[in-house]
This record gives sequence, structure tokens and C-alpha cells, in this order.
Amino acid sequence: MISRSDCEAMDASDKLAPLRSEFSLNPGEIYLDGNSLGPVSKNVGVRVNEVINDQWAKGLVRSWSAAGWMAAPLTIGAKLAPLIGAKANEVLVADTLTFAIAKLVGGALRLRPDRNIVLTDVANFHSDIYIINEVAKWAGRPIEVRTINRNNLAQELNENVALVEFTQVDYRMGEMLDMKSITKMVHDAGALMMWDFAHSTGAVPLDVEGCDVDFAAGCGYKYLNGGPGAPAFMYIREKWQNVIENPIPGWLGHARPFDFELGYEAALGMQAFVTSSPSILALAALDGALDIWSKTTIAEVRTKSLALTDLFIALVEERLPGVFEVVTPREHKKRGSQVALRHVESYAIVQALIERGVICDFRDPDICRLGFTPLYLGFVDVYDAVERLVDVMNSKVYDDPRFKVRNSIT
Ligand SMILES: Cc1ncc(COP(=O)(O)O)c(C=O)c1O
Repeated sequence: MISRSDCEAMDASDKLAPLRSEFSLNPGEIYLDGNSLGPVSKNVGVRVNEVINDQWAKGLVRSWSAAGWMAAPLTIGAKLAPLIGAKANEVLVADTLTFAIAKLVGGALRLRPDRNIVLTDVANFHSDIYIINEVAKWAGRPIEVRTINRNNLAQELNENVALVEFTQVDYRMGEMLDMKSITKMVHDAGALMMWDFAHSTGAVPLDVEGCDVDFAAGCGYKYLNGGPGAPAFMYIREKWQNVIENPIPGWLGHARPFDFELGYEAALGMQAFVTSSPSILALAALDGALDIWSKTTIAEVRTKSLALTDLFIALVEERLPGVFEVVTPREHKKRGSQVALRHVESYAIVQALIERGVICDFRDPDICRLGFTPLYLGFVDVYDAVERLVDVMNSKVYDDPRFKVRNSIT
């Protein structure tokens, strides 16, 4: 039996425990939804206030250059780059994730003009599938988008496949895909590989350089804690920069934006994928949120993340044997930083948990999704969350009709 005092001992020897004080968390609440929206940290407020009160209020329009606003997509991209194993000049922060995917997929399709198939995962996040289908229509040639079972990739690859786009950690099940072997398989077939890192960045170690990834994108509001609707990032491997074209060009991706020329000439490097004015307040929030990474490393975070999810799975199996199916892989190398539990009453269970201060979410049709962010969660939090889950299940409180009314946001 795992006891609460075992968990207290784990917290006492946890090197990351002091980082919790950087975040604003509600007393008594256990936040297991950082995989949806990360909480706010101290430096976010500091940076945003600085931008408002000094740069905007006093510097006004001068701040576009004096405060580095114009360069912010690239400077904040460089700050984020180590988290994905990229070089500083390979990452840009702008737009939101669906737009970033649109730009990269549109650009990638022009790099393989003699091929006409895009493969994506049938279990992918729906926004990826919608935007890939739409962008395929702009390609100037007929493109077939195939939503495949990702386990059948080897059979689906052929000499007509231009691009494969997968999400590296499955948003629903929490399964992590092997980026290196999949990227290699795709390259061996002559296609390009693009990864969606929405549930990976800040959660698991990533090595885009070592895995030879062509393109990637991820969002800033989950494990990066950049705030609701925070800007996304795009990664373009150096060898593709100045080769790939931004299919949504705008003045700020122009080589000379302030010459106001009518003809488009792309800027060099990642700047070409900046389309329009950077969203400075949102970038400031993300910039402040990224400061936490100067106090830890993704390797430390990963070690603790696996310990937290191992503990959660062990406690659920010990305290609630046979009640849930744990659908997230047990194998560490296949697990992201979340645990998905399957139960026919998942929706109502999640609502009852939220009422008891365990904030998590539901994913259709029958998944309770619980995210574990080592920056601010401890082992006692995991223990207490399971205690509250045991109470919900044993009392069958989830049968109360008020927990079964579906909200539009789950
Ligand atoms: C895997 C994945 N891809 C894409 C998106 C869409 O992100 P955005 O709303 O920033 O476009 C999400 C959002 O949660 C996601 O989880």
C-alpha cells in the first residue's frame, strides 16, 4: 500500500518542489489540466506589466525597435528552441497552432511538387485534420489527404507521399510516438515529416536536430504556461529555410517591409514565416512564462513527470482495482505527461472531480484526461487527487443528474 507519508517523503526530496511557489494556484485545488491551459507564473505578470507600463505607455511606437518588439517572434523563438532540441535560429513564435500548421503544411507541399498524398493520423487532433484538408486545396494540384491508422504508416508510405503530419503525444490517450524512427521511415520513402508538439513541448524531451525533423509546431498555452491563446511556435530545419515558402505571406515576412514594395520578396531565415504584426502582450506573457526554464531542465522535468504518472497509475490500480482502463501506455518511452482513464461515466466523473477541486478534463467518448506538470505538482497532490477520485467512485456521486449535463467546453 502506498501511503500519504510515502508521498510526503517523495516531495521532501524533490528538487523541483521549490518551483511551485513561482505559480499562482488556488489553495485546496489540485490542477491536473496543465495539458490544456497551464497556470500563470510570477514572471508573466512582471513581463506583461513591464511591456504595458514602460514600453507601451512611455516608449509608444518607438518600442517596435527600441524594446525589440519587432524582433520578439525570433528572440522568444530562440529562448524556446532548447526545449525542442533546435538551434536558436530555427524557431519562430507567432500565430496560434492551427495557423502555424497551415503555413508549414502549405509550404511543405510546394517542396514535393511531384507527389500528391499527405498522410495524417485518424486519431489526430481535429483541427490538424481540418486545416490540412483545406490547405491541400490551395496546393495548385490535386492532393489527397489520407487519415490513416498511425500504426500502419509503413504500409501507407509510397513514392507519392509528399508529407506526413503526426501529433507526437496523442492528445486523448497520452501515447508518445517514436519521433526518430517515424521520421526516418518517412524520409526513407522520400517524404517530409512534420510534427505537432502541442502535448510535447515542456512535457517531454525533444530532439528535432537528432531526429532530423523537417518541420514542427506547437502551442504556448499548455505545458509552456504562456496564457490562454498564447502564440504558437514553428520550427523549420535550417536546411529548409530560404527554400520553403510561406504560403500566407505578409509585409513582415518581406525582406524590406518598410520599403512598401508591391512585389513580394521573402526575408531570410525564419523571418519569412512572420506574416503580420507580432502580438506583443501575448508574446510578453509567453516570454515571462519561459523564464522558469532557467531554473530547471526538461530532463529533470521528465524524470519527475514519469514518477508522478507512475504513482498515479499505481494508486488508481491499488485503490480502484478494475474500475478504470488505463489507456495511456505503461512503457515510459511511449508515455507523454498525462494519464487517460477510460470509464463509461467519464464525463460525470470529471464534473464530480472538478467540484471536489481536482481540475481535469473529459475527452469524447469516454476518457478522463489528467495532466501532470512537474513544475508545480507534488506527489501528495497525486495522492490527494486519487483519494478524491476514490470518494467519487465509491459514493457513485457521478450518478447525480447535475453532473451529466454536458457543457459546451469539456
Ligand atoms: C494536438 C493539438 N493540435 C492543435 C491544436 C489547436 O491549437 P490552436 O487552438 O492553438 O490552433 C490543439 C489544441 O488543443 C491540440 O491539442
